[in-house]
Amino acid sequence: MTALTLSTAAAAGLRADAIVVGVAKGTPSKSQGLVVAPGAEAVDKAYDGRLAAVLETLGAVGAEGEVTKLPSPAGFKTPVVLAVGLGALPESNEGFGTETLRRAAGCASRAMAGAKKAAFALPVDGADALAAIAEGTVLGAYVFDAYKVSGPGGAATARKNGKNGKNAKPPLAEATLLGGKPRDKAHKAALERAAAVCEEINRARDLVNTPPNDLTPATFAHLASTAAKEHGVKVQVLDEKELTKGGYGGILGVGAGSTAPPRLVRLVYKHPKAKQSLAFIGKGITYDSGGISLKPPGHNETMKCDMGGAAAVLSTVLAVARLGLAVEVTGWLALAENMPSGSALRPGDVLRMYSGTTVEVLNTDAEGRLVLADAISRASEDKPDAIVDVATLTGAMILALGSRTFGIMANDDAFRSTLHEISEEAGEPSWPMPLPEYLLKGMDTPTADMANMGERMGGGLVAGLFLREFVGEDITWAHLDIAGPAYNEGSAFGYTPKGGTGSGVRTLVRLAERAAAGELA
Ligand code: BES
Ligand code: MN
Ligand code: ZN
Repeated sequence: MTALTLSTAAAAGLRADAIVVGVAKGTPSKSQGLVVAPGAEAVDKAYDGRLAAVLETLGAVGAEGEVTKLPSPAGFKTPVVLAVGLGALPESNEGFGTETLRRAAGCASRAMAGAKKAAFALPVDGADALAAIAEGTVLGAYVFDAYKVSGPGGAATARKNGKNGKNAKPPLAEATLLGGKPRDKAHKAALERAAAVCEEINRARDLVNTPPNDLTPATFAHLASTAAKEHGVKVQVLDEKELTKGGYGGILGVGAGSTAPPRLVRLVYKHPKAKQSLAFIGKGITYDSGGISLKPPGHNETMKCDMGGAAAVLSTVLAVARLGLAVEVTGWLALAENMPSGSALRPGDVLRMYSGTTVEVLNTDAEGRLVLADAISRASEDKPDAIVDVATLTGAMILALGSRTFGIMANDDAFRSTLHEISEEAGEPSWPMPLPEYLLKGMDTPTADMANMGERMGGGLVAGLFLREFVGEDITWAHLDIAGPAYNEGSAFGYTPKGGTGSGVRTLVRLAERAAAGELA
């Protein structure tokens, strides 16, 4: 993980592989071209104030995501200046937005893969900007190379080419941020928070990226237990025998087709001064083949991502513990592998859920709601102030909102608004979605209390309505459908890598911070 430090050293004397500066697009109406952002004054001065002109000659325009490298001016100890685009210059009094800084830092950090150290001279106008740069740096540096043993041609070719067998560059090892004050309490706290949260986000990414032959419900539960113990979080794992004894029909049903049996993990963090309590529930389908309602080719290659909700919940609980927030947080990981086999759940089977409700399974690919329902019922027994479930639940939500925005559904309008607001503050785009009552009827069946499927139209909302049926009376609940943003099938952008993204962690950590301040909606 990229180590973060603060420095007040003069740019010229810094020892690093590169110094990162920000550049923005000037205001066209003022016929302003490229503008060097605040924070890089000393660097610009060393180029005799011609840094913008030099960069323009190199083709830079200041667009978001743009990275331009050039040799450092004479007298600098860093060999390279890396200019990263910040997009349009903000209106006179506003600073650059935190998400702009987070993304720019992420692009720079990713471009520095393989390097030992980079100094960041981006615009810092307070602790929030510093936190955003720190987050972008750690998140952008992320590399998943656990399975890169050798390049094309095998290990022998790799050795012949002087490589040690690994063909991915390691993440930037160290980042020193300029513009912050090492002795300022708020700055130090911002840096520590960013490091803890982003290390946990990178943990969630690793879990999502780990192939499903290595990440089964049991191995996930084991990794969660080990990490929980390291950070003083209590952990309890229900195995298939205990799930049977407890009557967890949903989780058992979904896991029935796999040789890797299901698990339900309960993680408890409780601060002695906690006033408010939260339950976070994560969908943890370690692989979603669809089951007997098998997904067609083209739809199951990335389905190791279907435990992204559980990974986000684990990471959130660990981050909250590391930050020592004055709150009680219970994390639930509903873990199962959805496979077709002779012992698998069939379309037509009726499950008796943990709550006692009977569910006719009409499509075994609508499995997430089944494991979540049991966890929601069980979590409700503890009577938390609020429950939030996080799940890669429906393809319909991706069709509705695209691949970078998650949908929020809730049984409480204020709570849904709070979540929307804090997710946007955190740089996780989201949008409030309705739970239209008329869609409930579509899940009626003559055979059982309800079916696990309803109308095709509004499929994401149908799934939300299904979950709502399992929330205990008078408990505030929200559902985050992260099917789109949990896994980036496209190229890396900003601080978001290809593959697992750790979607949801920053929003849930903020919610826990609200609860610690006694400000739960
Ligand atoms: N895990 C999928 C949803 C999903 C799709 C996540 C694409 C990420 C990317 C979920 O279990 C599923 O299969 N949902 C079905 C529900 C349908 C059968 C009612 C869907 O969305 O098609
Ligand atoms: Mn499915
Ligand atoms: Zn699924």
